[in-house]
Amino acid sequence: MANGKPVSTLLQSSYPMMGGDGPHSYIRNSTYQKAAIESVKTSAKKAILAKLDLKTSIFNLSSYRIADFGCSVGPNTFDVIENIIETIKLKHQQDETNRNNHENLEFHVFFNDQSDNDFNTLFKTLPRYHIDREVFACGVPGSFFGRVFPRNSLHIGHTSYSIHWLSEAPEDVCNQNSQAWKKNIQCTNLVEEVTEAYKKQFKKDMGAFIEARAQELVPGGLMIILGLCLPDGVQMIRTWKGVVHEMIRDCLVDMAKSGITSVEKVESFNLPVYFPQFSELKEVIEQNGCFTIEIMEEVKHPMEDMLLSNDFITSSYRAIFHGVIEEHFGGGVIDELFDRFAKKLNKDPVDFFKCQKDMQYFILLKRKIY
Ligand SMILES: C[S@@+](CC[C@H](N)C(=O)[O-])C[C@H]1O[C@@H](n2cnc3c(N)ncnc32)[C@H](O)[C@@H]1O
Repeated sequence: MANGKPVSTLLQSSYPMMGGDGPHSYIRNSTYQKAAIESVKTSAKKAILAKLDLKTSIFNLSSYRIADFGCSVGPNTFDVIENIIETIKLKHQQDETNRNNHENLEFHVFFNDQSDNDFNTLFKTLPRYHIDREVFACGVPGSFFGRVFPRNSLHIGHTSYSIHWLSEAPEDVCNQNSQAWKKNIQCTNLVEEVTEAYKKQFKKDMGAFIEARAQELVPGGLMIILGLCLPDGVQMIRTWKGVVHEMIRDCLVDMAKSGITSVEKVESFNLPVYFPQFSELKEVIEQNGCFTIEIMEEVKHPMEDMLLSNDFITSSYRAIFHGVIEEHFGGGVIDELFDRFAKKLNKDPVDFFKCQKDMQYFILLKRKIY
């Protein structure tokens, strides 16, 4: 105990993606995120070429420091880093004063995630560029809601599909005496008190994320953010992802009825995940004031109009949620839960035509030069 609170509640919660390279691993089940990264590859390249200012003394460099926040185990993070490195080289090649040094550039690449991320698998699968000795890779464990780098040390930061993870589920939705106490496992956007509680937590966490990056990035440094939100006015429960979350909850309720877990456990389970509305996201970034928003736009996800198969949905969600579910319910429930989920989905598939669309966004921020 510390300050009257169990120590575990004072520690930063962490819900890693499924590690290793087995059939349920994130490596094998992150095609959805991979497609998203691929879809903005050209935009990211163009944006870096346009916004990285080699004329300032800070960028008259022979070595760059690049970080991916919430990298997980790959392979997506490797694609991201490769694209950034290629673009910086191209930028130097195109620049008259820096043209000569593009072949001698060196890159210090930092892979950040929570300390229980499977960094062993990440480093075992590191691409060849590591051996060529122009890229020097290292892991940086720790929550991206705080500072994980020295001040003014990074040139380019990146994060994809990570900032909808909150540092924890909002306190009020976990408190039975609060108006926001709820029986859903997610923020459906149907109950005002619950939405407010999630919104407040998101503002706090995202504000902390932006502030930490503001301190770590050099003036003129770039931060790329790719992720999912909701178009203004759309409720989570109306999107296919919201429907899937409800189905997971229904399976947990059934498991409690069968005595596999308890009603209390199910009622106290809250996904620490929040998809903000587009304008909410913008507001938090603007409030920080240390960045100019160079680009903030909707980009179509390549799978947006696809009718995703039930197997694809089941294996993707298993790889993503296994950590958070295991932490709350214990290790024994995952197989049972996702067997039940797969059966439920086959019996009652997601009606993609009825669902409203969520929104994928691409953001490029530039650290202001004061
Ligand atoms: C869905 S994965 C995205 C992985 C990868 N960026 C991609 O696009 O495929 C989200 C990652 O964010 C990480 N994450 C969540 N909260 C974090 C935090 N507070 N600090 C660092 N990493 C965090 C998770 O551990 C997980 O690896």
